[in-house]
Parts: sequence; C-alpha cells; structure tokens
Amino acid sequence: MKKISLTFAILLINLQLFAIAKETALPASSRSIELNFADLLVIALLLFAVVALLATVVLLKSLKVMVKERMHPTPFVKYKAPASLEYIEWIELKKSKPNIWTKLLSLKPIEEEETLIIPHAYDGIHELNNPIPRWFNVLFYGTLVFAICYFYYYHVGDGLRQDQEYAAEIVKADQDKRVFLAKAGEKFDENSVKPDQTLVANGKAIFMANCVACHGEHGEGLVGPNLVDEFWLHGGSISDVFKTVKYGVPAKGMASWEKNLSSKNLAEVVNFIMSLQGTTPANAKAPQGEKYEVKSEKDTVNNEIITKN
Ligand code: HEC
Repeated sequence: MKKISLTFAILLINLQLFAIAKETALPASSRSIELNFADLLVIALLLFAVVALLATVVLLKSLKVMVKERMHPTPFVKYKAPASLEYIEWIELKKSKPNIWTKLLSLKPIEEEETLIIPHAYDGIHELNNPIPRWFNVLFYGTLVFAICYFYYYHVGDGLRQDQEYAAEIVKADQDKRVFLAKAGEKFDENSVKPDQTLVANGKAIFMANCVACHGEHGEGLVGPNLVDEFWLHGGSISDVFKTVKYGVPAKGMASWEKNLSSKNLAEVVNFIMSLQGTTPANAKAPQGEKYEVKSEKDTVNNEIITKN
C-alpha cells in the first residue's frame, strides 16, 4: 500500500514538474492560456488517470481491511457505558486543566468560588469578587499615559496640528507636482519633438535593433524607402517623421511603433533618422515621394548634424 501511495505521489510531482517546464519553455509574451484540442485531450486523459489512480488506491485499501477482518476478525465486545461522575469528581477532573479563557480573564477556578464570595447579599444574591485582569488594567493606564504624551507633543511640543499638517501636505504636493511636470517635459510627441543631437546616439541603437530589416543599416532602404535623401512619402519635417514612426503606415507595411517604443525612444530614433539626411550610403534606394522643403527654422533637419556627417 505504501508503495502505491509513493508511486502516486511521484506521479503527481512529475506532473507538476512537467507543467512548470512547459510554462518556462514558453516566451513571456505567449504565456497566456491558449489550449488547442490536443492539449485539452491530454489534460483530460491525465485527469482521468489521476481519478482512476485515486479510485484504485481507495479500493485496494478497503480490500485490505476486508481481508484483514476475514483472517483475524475483531472480537465482539459489549458496549459498556462509562460510569457517571459525581459533581465533586467532575470538579476534580476539571481542576487539573484551567483553560485559556479562564486564564485570560484571570478567573478563579470554580472550586475556589467559595473564597470569592463578598460578604454581602442583595435579596439573597451574593456577589463574587473577580478582579479585573492585569493586562486590562495595563491597557487602561496605558491609554492615560498615551493621552498625556499626545497632549504634550501636539499641543505643547512641536507636533503639527491638523491644520498645520494640511498646509505642509499642500506644500509637499506642490513640490511633487513640479517634479512630475518637469519629468513630463521629457515626454515627446509630434508637436514637442525638436532636433537634439544628444539623442542621436541612443537613436542609432534603437534603429539598429528595430528598423534595419526594412530600411537598411545606413538608412539606404530595403523593403522600406531610403531615409537619407530629402524626398519623403509622408513629409520630412521632424514632426512629420515622428508622426510616421509613431503611428506607422500599416497599409504599406510600416508598423506603428507607439506601443513598442517609449516617446523618448521615438524622439531618439527620429533624431537619428534626421541625422542621416544628406548621407550617401552605397546602393541607396531611389528617391520616393516628394521633395521636402524646409519651411521654418524649427522644422526638420538640424544643420549642425548634417555638416557633422
Ligand atoms: C517591416 C518593415 C519595416 C520596419 C521594421 C520599419 N519600417 Fe519604416 N517603413 C516601411 C515601409 C514599407 C515604409 C513605406 C510606407 C509607405 O509606403 O507609405 C516605411 C516608411 C518609413 C518612414 C517614412 C519614410 C518617408 O518617405 O516618408 C519612416 C520615417 C520610417 N519608415 C521609419 C522607421 C523607423 C524609425 C523604424 C524602426 C523603429 C522603421 N521604420 C521600421 C517598412 C518598415
């Protein structure tokens, strides 16, 4: 019987390990539960096997009991009621183990009740002297001490009263807001993006990781158009390019990168693309789209970057 239980346990552990192994083997993104029919069938079979095993174990155990009874039947013994106790005996029995409740409330055991009676009676009703438990008194005097300290700290000492605390919190919230707004300033969108040379280096890394497959290592263009000349399909100002990268041209095979890149990353890669302007990589794709003319200073290509390249 032990052996069967052991096999059963081992089987369960194996199942568990199998499940864990399968889970870790999947890439993080596809770890959601997507079961096909074959998986469901396997799971159903495994469940069935487990249930069958359980049933077998129970059956075997009962068989064992039956066989044992057959071979060495337990002799029949007549039921004998336990002798009833006298009250005194019962009290004696109880005496040995005071329970938690009586301890907690510092109650005297019932057999000592007589010593607790206060010698006065109202209409023949006696009162017992059950003093308050020590811990309760400690709590009570504790609150007194706390009140004194509280009063001293908040009304005499330098603890802040509610109105002062409120004022302090307002000041702090104001500071937090400033910090938040300063950070939010780092967020870029098509309106706020500007040529910024400091972003180019990071942008290059992002370009290498995400864009080379379609635009070539030097922006010469492969599936996608070249990104080095002044001809653009979707406008050549920095905010146009930002928009193209952010929202994509899904119908033409250019993905929207809004979800995969942070706005900072977008600004970086866009600045990198702008830095490619005027470079002449080998086997660049023929120009596509319209020639883009700089309309305002804030627009497009950072001349500084071009002359550098
Ligand atoms: C799956 C291939 C593919 C990938 C990857 C890809 N692009 Fe594109 N991209 C295209 C195609 C195709 C177009 C042309 C869309 C059209 O014809 O309107 C395009 C267009 C563009 C344009 C507009 C060019 C113009 O002339 O207006 C820019 C800018 C651009 N991609 C930047 C990027 C950046 C940045 C990345 C990486 C974050 C990237 N692309 C990744 C395929 C891709």
